[in-house]
Amino acid sequence: MQLPSYKEARSRKRQTVKIEEYQSLKESFGKDKTYYIKTYGCQMNEHDSENIKAILEELGFQENLEMEKSDLIILNTCSIRENAHNKAFGMLGRLKHLKETRPELIIGICGCMAQEEGVVNEILHKYRQVNFVFGTHNLHRLPYILKKYLDSKQQEIEVLSVEGNLIEGMPVKRASNHKAFVNIMYGCDKFCTYCIVPYTRGKQRSRKKEDILKEVKALVQEGYQEVTLLGQNVNAYGKDQNSEYRMENLLEDVAKTKIPRVRFMTSHPWDFTDQMIEVIAKYPNIMPAIHLPVQSGSNRILKLMGRRYTREEYISLFDKIKEKIPNVSISTDIIVGFPKETEKDFLETLDLVKYCKYDNAFTFIYSKRENTAACRLEDKIPLKEKENRLYQLNTIVNDYFLKNNQKLIGKTVPVLVDGHNENGKTELFGYTDTNKLINFNGNDSLIGKIVFVKVTNAKTWSLDGELVESRN
Ligand code: 5AD
Ligand code: SF4
Repeated sequence: MQLPSYKEARSRKRQTVKIEEYQSLKESFGKDKTYYIKTYGCQMNEHDSENIKAILEELGFQENLEMEKSDLIILNTCSIRENAHNKAFGMLGRLKHLKETRPELIIGICGCMAQEEGVVNEILHKYRQVNFVFGTHNLHRLPYILKKYLDSKQQEIEVLSVEGNLIEGMPVKRASNHKAFVNIMYGCDKFCTYCIVPYTRGKQRSRKKEDILKEVKALVQEGYQEVTLLGQNVNAYGKDQNSEYRMENLLEDVAKTKIPRVRFMTSHPWDFTDQMIEVIAKYPNIMPAIHLPVQSGSNRILKLMGRRYTREEYISLFDKIKEKIPNVSISTDIIVGFPKETEKDFLETLDLVKYCKYDNAFTFIYSKRENTAACRLEDKIPLKEKENRLYQLNTIVNDYFLKNNQKLIGKTVPVLVDGHNENGKTELFGYTDTNKLINFNGNDSLIGKIVFVKVTNAKTWSLDGELVESRN
């Protein structure tokens, strides 16, 4: 049994990260059994689940979309905010009942919550229905952990506090056959004071450019239309390696593979260089949609958050991006109710939002996370007040989403078609180059293709349009 420790997770050792090839366990103890994975949280977790699915299928398991009927259930958890936490624990409660009716059911927990000391102790003592736990650093060990549980029938916990080697060559069962996630780096060294990610995902480790480009080129060969380069702070790509090769170089090389669409997330304003802006502006296949989390518009709060930029620096970067990248859409993340946020600080956030007029924004109430620096700050703002701030903020950002969408009416935009929307067989949906959801009529043969659609109507969260022509 190996339990996580926050103290170790915080350490940032200097040794270089080694690369290790994934080793399959050539056994088929999953034959005639089915699995179900419930994924919480971000794209990083979604992509991890794509790896987990492929690993399980190598062992003979088959996917079952009905949780209640599967032989193995894995919860891939998120710990970014308390509500994600609560949802996973709520689900564990439901699974307890299921396990009572079917004792042979196997239950596993992984993801960010599995890296938390407090959570694992709780599982160990209170949630005995959980059969195995593994963390974010040892996905590749899943076959061995599962086998150990099946052989011993004892709760098996294997969570590493410190990231080990970088594993290449993991199998993957992608959710889409036209859009793919490609990890370019793992972990984060920024330690924003509210954020648990540097503890749950470990220190920053960039994948080698050769491995990334090989993966993208293979996707191009397979006909993929879009890659999203993933990392907690992609702009810092390469800073942990002994080389001058950085995000701007990687973006350029990925664009040169001729994959029709390149996206990347998430960007921290601190590492967003002028060269990156130039590369994004130069290559038409790098999508003009940038996620640029601001978190707060108050310098006092930005400092308490440890964000490393001022409101003025953020605005100047924002202006530069808008000026240099034609037609760019910018989205953001904002936290309200951070400890010590005054009405004045909050109004500064509203003021910044009115300046930036974001195309999209993810807004959150601050959630205290165990062991982070901010959890030691006194938090006297009543929940009602925080909710009120969130409501005011959402009213304003939603209004800009609608206004920005309305500006597109009458324009023709490129759209990568994802599939049918829920309204009916003839209605398709996809995303524009600027990452806006659009619905329009068309037939199945367009799914997975990039087409042109004329925008006819704008809503807060989506557009409606008419198919103009197919580019392919
Ligand atoms: N409370 C609220 N929001 C948080 N985020 C990260 N940590 C917290 C927290 N403790 C938000 C930030 C980040 C996004 C992924 O989640 O806005 O950019
Ligand atoms: Fe968390 Fe800050 Fe790292 Fe983003 S940059 S993952 S908010 S610590």
